[in-house]
Order: sequence, then C-alpha cells, then structure tokens
Amino acid sequence: MRGEPLASPPALTPTLSREREREQDTAPLLQVDGVSLEYRTPERVVRATHRVSFDVHAADRFVLLGPSGCGKSTLLKAVGGFIAPVEGEIRLDGQRVTQPGPDRIVVFQEFDQLPPWKTVKQNVMFPLLASRTLGKKEANERALHYLDKVGLAKFADVHPHQLSGGMKQRVAIARALAMQPRVLLMDEPFAALDALTRRKMQQELLELWDEVRFTLLFVTHSIEEALVVGNRVALMSPHPGRMRAEVNSHGFSLASLGGAEFQGTAQRIHDMLFEEEHAEAVA
Ligand SMILES: Nc1ncnc2c1ncn2[C@@H]1O[C@H](COP(=O)(O)OP(=O)(O)O)[C@@H](O)[C@H]1O
Ligand SMILES: [Mg+2]
Repeated sequence: MRGEPLASPPALTPTLSREREREQDTAPLLQVDGVSLEYRTPERVVRATHRVSFDVHAADRFVLLGPSGCGKSTLLKAVGGFIAPVEGEIRLDGQRVTQPGPDRIVVFQEFDQLPPWKTVKQNVMFPLLASRTLGKKEANERALHYLDKVGLAKFADVHPHQLSGGMKQRVAIARALAMQPRVLLMDEPFAALDALTRRKMQQELLELWDEVRFTLLFVTHSIEEALVVGNRVALMSPHPGRMRAEVNSHGFSLASLGGAEFQGTAQRIHDMLFEEEHAEAVA
C-alpha cells in the first residue's frame, strides 16, 4: 500500500505468503495513488473519496469493502476512466488512466446491462467487434469459449429475458472476460441475487479465477463476500471514503464460512467499520 499509512491493528496485518513475496518483486499492475474524487453540481461539491491509495498486482482479487456511500462505485468509475481524479493519479501498467479502454471492463450489479435485442452470444461478441479487437469469426469463437467457461454454451442463441438473474450475470462476466482485460472491475455484481444464487456465483467466480487467473478489482459492502472473494480486502471508511486498513483474506474461501477464524476476522472488520461510524457520529 502507498500514500498515507494505514491504521491496521496487529491482528489484521497482512502476513506475507510466498505468493505475495513473489508478487512484490514485480511492479503493480494497477496503482491508485492519493486519489480524491468529487462530484460537482452548481450548488455544491461532494467529495466521494479522499486521498485513496492502493496497489493491485497481477492475479490479485482485490476487494474494496465499505459502507454504502463511501465512494466504492466512484472509485471503480475512476479506474474505468469515466471520472478524472481532482487529486492524485491512477496508473495501469505505469501509464496514467485518462479515459475508458478495453483493458478495463466493468461488470455491474444491474441485470439490465445486456441489450435485450441481442442474443447471449451477440452480447458477448459485441464489445469484441465494437472495439475492433477481433474479426467476426474469432469473436464468435471467443464468445463461445467464455460462455462455455460460465456454463452457458447451451444458451448462446437465447435472448437475455429468457435467463434468470444469475445467468444474466454469468453472461456479463463472460462478456467482460472475453475482452481479456488487464483488470476486471466488478461493482457489487451479486448484490441483487438471492442468497443461494449469490453464494453459487461467488464459488463460480473463484473457480473461474483458478482457471483464467484474471486480475480482479471487486466492490462490495458485504464483509462475508469480501473475505470469500478477495485475497486482499481494503477497508474504506464512510463518506468521504478513505483507506482504513488492508486485510489479508488469502486463506479464506467458502469452506471457511462459519469457522472461528473467519468469524473472528469478520467481527474485527465489523468493529472497525462501526467504530468509524461511531466516531463520526460523535464528532
Ligand atoms: N452523480 C452524483 N452526483 C453527486 N453525488 C454523487 C453522485 N454519485 C454518487 N454521489 C455521492 O458520492 C458519494 C459516493 O457514492 P458511491 O461511489 O456511489 O458510493 P458507494 O458505491 O460506496 O455506495 C455518496 O455520498 C454519493 O451520494
Ligand atoms: Mg456503489
């Protein structure tokens, strides 16, 4: 982590695994460096994040965790190149991010992110063709490849309205991965799903990561989801969002749910989030 030192209690201090040690030899893929983000309306300026810094390494599953309104979506939009920082800089492979690009693809929470008039396969092919990444034949092949990876090869020719919410999110994930972005950005992608489907999608995402080893920047306000999905979890304080601490969640998976260590870490994170809210309320 860069920039301001993080107030991290000893129990949450990352322990270096061999994997992390290796990663530290290489430059970070994505650097968010002292980034403040604001919304300006004629009446006022809303500061969404304040001097946020973090590094994401190749094949990280980096999670931004924080309460609603702390600026997680805004940060993701800035990494996507849709909003420019008022302070600080975002770099991908050392190059400053100034605009959207096919190297950063976002998967959103909403089920309606797929144009309904296109079939599932056409939806996955569309960004490949629109960005001139591939020709029609190759785009077709790649779309089928990633639809197969998310278990939807059989649904290639149906339209999105014939799919469940979970299936639509799988299509959105296949569409994003088909672009083979440098970083996959996910903004609460499973938040609108029922609990069982959500759990299944988390499991599938991890299986997909095992296979493809993409780099993930994932936003959630669920502590449990953060610990399951991430290998690193950055805790953000409430509005305006600042970095609070980083938790190494590398050892947790769906199998850890309910275990003492998992519960303990979840409780400590909960306390830290609550502590901050309490401090703000008193101030
Ligand atoms: N388009 C906008 N115009 C003005 N303020 C906004 C806009 N979008 C978000 N905000 C404000 O910025 C802050 C961060 O929002 P957001 O990034 O959506 O938080 P999160 O995703 O963590 O819930 C909030 O206070 C929110 O009200
Ligand atoms: Mg949000």
